[in-house]
Amino acid sequence: MKHFINLKDIPASDLKKIIQDAKKRKKKRKNFNTLDVDKDIPLKGKLLIQMFEKSSLRTRLSFYLAIKQLGGGTITLRTNELHLGIDGESAADTAKIISTYGDGFMLRTDSDQKIKEFKKHLTIPVINGLSPSSHPTQVLSDVFTVEEIKKKPISKLNICWIGDSNNVLNSLIAASVKFSFKLNIGCPKNYAPQKFVLSWAKKNKGQITIFNDAKKAVINSDVIFSDKVISLNDKVNKAKKIRDFKNFQINSKLISFAKKDVTFLHCLPRGTEVSNEVFLGKNSKVWQQALNRVHVQKSILLYSFGKLR
Ligand code: CP
Ligand code: NVA
Repeated sequence: MKHFINLKDIPASDLKKIIQDAKKRKKKRKNFNTLDVDKDIPLKGKLLIQMFEKSSLRTRLSFYLAIKQLGGGTITLRTNELHLGIDGESAADTAKIISTYGDGFMLRTDSDQKIKEFKKHLTIPVINGLSPSSHPTQVLSDVFTVEEIKKKPISKLNICWIGDSNNVLNSLIAASVKFSFKLNIGCPKNYAPQKFVLSWAKKNKGQITIFNDAKKAVINSDVIFSDKVISLNDKVNKAKKIRDFKNFQINSKLISFAKKDVTFLHCLPRGTEVSNEVFLGKNSKVWQQALNRVHVQKSILLYSFGKLR
């Protein structure tokens, strides 16, 4: 059993193996229906318990399909419907019960500490389905999508992020180290990634450059990523933050400075950080990106359940 909490803590060879497995499995499903089970039924009889402390559309649906296509099943819990933290039931007791009933646990939480606490008491693997500091399943799937679209290893591409320094960017920084790709970050002056994230990347030979000018950041990019300026856990002056990002909107003018065939990706949900024209335009591959989460999370589940071949 293997936890899947932060990309930076998972060996690059394991992450690459997950991507390879996802490629093979996706190819084999060409004429399958949504709920058809993969021929080898690798997670037959297994239960994934999903728990959400915050809203989710894509993560919830993609994990549902992922476990079903592997032959298992899932149940989704909302913390406000449990005893946890309300009637005084401890994380330790909840974790014990989850481990008794289920085979894997996917947690979307507003506290990184809570994942650590659960991990301590679980006897089944935990998968981080988004926390304040990272969104590893999203970004691993995005690496898959980039390689699928560009038909080359991501290490040969110039990747760019325009936007807030949030959980998704932290995972993208970790991915840039694990998959050895160049990453330009374009963000306003006071919104750079946290120092400990950058120093980890530097120590691990990350090729990361930060620009406070969106145009300079996108020049020569093969792929531009973005995400909402205001994240689920953001407790900021929203109007001010949106104002601070006004020169960082991804619009047709900005992407004209990137390579002609630049790909635009966004994990969704979206806000004002991207124009409708770009989001729905020919360079945008956001729907393919969203669907690929099913394929990659299947291989993440296999990795965590100790069934990745
Ligand atoms: N991208 C993503 O994680 O979407 P949800 O918040 O809808 O799960
Ligand atoms: N950064 C966003 C990602 C949503 C999928 C958030 O944390 O809200």
